[in-house]
Amino acid sequence: MAPDGDEVQCGLGRTGKWFVYQHAGIQPDVVLLAKGLASGVPIGACLARGAAAAVFKPGTHGSTFGGNPLACAAALATLAAIEEEGLMKNAERIGGILLAGLREALAGRPGVAEVRGHGLMIGVELDRPCGDLVTQALEAGLLINVTMDKVVRLLPPLIMSEGEAREVLSILVPLVRSFSRRHRPPSRARMKKARAGVRHYLQFKDFSREEYEHLFARTRWIKDSSSATSATGRSKTARSQ
Ligand SMILES: Cc1ncc(COP(=O)(O)O)c(C=O)c1O
Repeated sequence: MAPDGDEVQCGLGRTGKWFVYQHAGIQPDVVLLAKGLASGVPIGACLARGAAAAVFKPGTHGSTFGGNPLACAAALATLAAIEEEGLMKNAERIGGILLAGLREALAGRPGVAEVRGHGLMIGVELDRPCGDLVTQALEAGLLINVTMDKVVRLLPPLIMSEGEAREVLSILVPLVRSFSRRHRPPSRARMKKARAGVRHYLQFKDFSREEYEHLFARTRWIKDSSSATSATGRSKTARSQ
């Protein structure tokens, strides 16, 4: 059986094709859709083929609001708009502009781990938590999301224009650059100082009374047992094994 495809976020044209699995050259048996399916009217769909399609029959899965006419009409209108307004092509073209702009301005900078994406599904992965960027971007008039603590995630509307994409770049790039400048690799002098502070030994004052007593007892035991071994005439090499 082929894997199932969760296309809830990445499906419906976002990556430039109806489904993201089409880029991967696989054909899942089950595909899940929701979110953008009806442009905001709540709806979800489970598509199945082959043996998987026979698992559910009409009536198997009842739901109060499942497949209601309003939601289905909104979904049909959305699918028609994606097709008729060329939104998949738009996602591919505008996503390409965003991705190229972000890569050119940010890839390889300290603090930036990766700029990745497909169509209008883009992630800028930083090397440390960057949740503050959400507030900073909001103050600058841009709504972004940070997922997994350190990935700036962009999922803009499929109708985004080139001008809007350039505006996104003009706000986001300086914010990430300034985040990146705050990433200061330790200077040589700081490293030297840090190394000088590392002790390779412990002092009595590093232990509590109980720990000290335990160590003292262990040391005495090692000393006693080693002198007992020496008394039996075993070689030093044999003892250390
Ligand atoms: C990729 C993906 N799959 C599935 C879901 C689940 O959707 P629901 O909120 O209906 O449980 C979400 C929701 O955010 C999602 O992002």
